[in-house]
Amino acid sequence: MSERVKEVVDTIISSIRATMIEKQVTVKEYRAGILYLHELGLKGEIPLLSDVYFNSTAVENENRIYKGTRSDLEGPYYLADSPFITDEIKTLDDVEGEAMIIRGAITSVDGEPIANAELDIWHSTPDGRYSGIHDGVPQDCYRGRVITNDEGRYSVKSTTPIPYEIPSQGMTGQLLQMLGNHTWRPAHIHIKTKKKGFHELTTQAYFEGGDWTENDCCSGVCNSGVNIIAEKHEDGVRIMDIDLVLDKEVI
Ligand code: DHB
Ligand code: FE
Repeated sequence: MSERVKEVVDTIISSIRATMIEKQVTVKEYRAGILYLHELGLKGEIPLLSDVYFNSTAVENENRIYKGTRSDLEGPYYLADSPFITDEIKTLDDVEGEAMIIRGAITSVDGEPIANAELDIWHSTPDGRYSGIHDGVPQDCYRGRVITNDEGRYSVKSTTPIPYEIPSQGMTGQLLQMLGNHTWRPAHIHIKTKKKGFHELTTQAYFEGGDWTENDCCSGVCNSGVNIIAEKHEDGVRIMDIDLVLDKEVI
């Protein structure tokens, strides 16, 4: 076992023991807790529950290493090999949605434009589903990869996502509700960048004033300095200006 794993696991064990002592956890309560974890595994909800409570903490740790745009949750719905696009993300004609243009400039932390960067963009349908994951939405819709131009800019047309409810009927949803929380994430757009020599940034952008922006159930939007984009329209079309600043890769 690596030193790193030993160090982290030893600390987790000590933290759990300290909580058990502080709260005077009984044998009966201990057994109930273990049964809960066992059932969580059987139901396949370990990743969901872990993401809700701990993913944003790991993201914040990484944000202490890199400058530039803040990283945010990747979430469970990133798919590699999404289609290359130039100016439009494919959407479904029979799902009515508000048109939206996602555009912006990619620069380095020194302020230089970054041409030929790959931006992988994905977001929900206007009725809150993810393509290739949820029924009825083909994988090549609502996601795509665009390459920045010579000025480091990009612009793609799509439709506006809505707040997303994480699975609420299972054990994770129940736990959130039992602890006085809800199961909603604010509407968001995911972006992952790839450019040689630069840190691979995985982040999200949110809609200022949108529902749940102040209390995301996954704490993604609680990270300091995430992209919360002010409402803007041009010729009646919603514009999301998402500028990103990339730090150099740490070698
Ligand atoms: C979850 C879903 C998302 O769309 C996201 O961005 C983050 C988390 C989830 O279901 O846990
Ligand atoms: Fe998401």
